[in-house]
Amino acid sequence: MAGSVRGVHLAGWGAYAPSLVLTNADLEKMVETSDEWIFSRTGIRERRIAGPDETTASMAAVAGLRAIAVAGLQPDDIDLILVGTLTPDYPMPSTAALVKDAIGNKRAAAMDLAAACSGFVFGYATGQAYIGSGMANHVLVIGAETLSRATDFTDRGTCLLFGDGAGAVVLSASDEPGGTLGIEMTTEPSGAYFIWLPAGGAARPASDQTLKAREHYMKMKGSETFKMAVRTLGSTSLRALEKAGLDRADVDLVIPHQANIRIIEALGKALDFPMEKIFVNVDRYGNTSAASVPLALAEAVGSGRVKKGDRLLLVAFGAGLTSGAIALEWTADPAASARADAIGPGDVKVLPGYLDPVNPFPPALEWLLERSEQGSPK
Ligand SMILES: CC(C)(COP(=O)(O)OP(=O)(O)OC[C@H]1O[C@@H](n2cnc3c(N)ncnc32)[C@H](O)[C@@H]1OP(=O)(O)O)[C@@H](O)C(=O)NCCC(=O)NCCS
Repeated sequence: MAGSVRGVHLAGWGAYAPSLVLTNADLEKMVETSDEWIFSRTGIRERRIAGPDETTASMAAVAGLRAIAVAGLQPDDIDLILVGTLTPDYPMPSTAALVKDAIGNKRAAAMDLAAACSGFVFGYATGQAYIGSGMANHVLVIGAETLSRATDFTDRGTCLLFGDGAGAVVLSASDEPGGTLGIEMTTEPSGAYFIWLPAGGAARPASDQTLKAREHYMKMKGSETFKMAVRTLGSTSLRALEKAGLDRADVDLVIPHQANIRIIEALGKALDFPMEKIFVNVDRYGNTSAASVPLALAEAVGSGRVKKGDRLLLVAFGAGLTSGAIALEWTADPAASARADAIGPGDVKVLPGYLDPVNPFPPALEWLLERSEQGSPK
């Protein structure tokens, strides 16, 4: 890629989704809505919810370990850990620092990246810069979110959209042809307050007043976000392809941010990508913000949708409003996906010193736990 001294390849991929499932029928019992309305406006049927013993760091660690195994590496081979998230376990320490401990890495630098739903793509671009300039050989880039803990389950305009999960990739230096071909990133602060989480930061620290006003939950101007998303996803994609020297017809598979099926379809229409060339799993996970693109990528590769030599376009948008796109040529063996199967939550170190001793599970969803204990996941 232009500007890189060395080539950068996507060498490993992995994902983790918690087992609790919140369906549209469940939401019908919580707010004034219907499965028909939600599905027709968003394409979402269900989303995953992190359990009481899961956090952004714990889910990120499982996805990260899976990506490292798929790459055929050991945790200590990683030089830099980047976690894109808008729901870090704490403002400090970084979630990436907790992940480093949880995966048993002794030598990496670790930091979080705040670019909302574009956090993974911005993290990929950062990893690209570190490897391309020679500052790192292997970078673990993770997108992970526990959005259920920042969702107002009394607000029907937002609570149907979001879910929890994590996805990760390993980027590695290699002089083979292929790998990353072009990257574009944009930030348009004119849309900064279209999606935002008003309280808990320096501008509005936590107080009785912010709690009463429910300002610790995500707020969104839905239709303004929708329009800007369609526009920026299209322009960012085209710029990344241009930088990669590719035409739209050269793209074998688009992996877009899974926010809403209508946004994905509008992107396909605007850029002339038939839906067969666009990977969609929003129906099963909803919008998992920074986790969305790497979770979709791991599923796409694991289900045989990607083969060596394919040209992929990864594209995201999110609060900020941020947008980022990556054009790359796939060089890894998709069959390596199977190496992730051996790794589960039991393989990451439990972090008793860091985990909040107070049960962080959203009170509005406590019945979901009872249902899962009764052995009925849906
Ligand atoms: C949120 C979103 C699904 C709403 O769809 P929309 O078509 O814009 O719907 P509107 O907000 O205009 O609402 C249309 C009507 O449905 C109603 N409505 C809103 N939420 C509803 C719900 N959950 N169930 C039933 N009706 C609902 C509204 O009150 C409105 O009724 P009215 O016409 O009588 O006033 C859509 O705007 C969206 O997906 N935006 C992008 C969000 C996004 O991707 N955010 C993350 C970015 S990373």
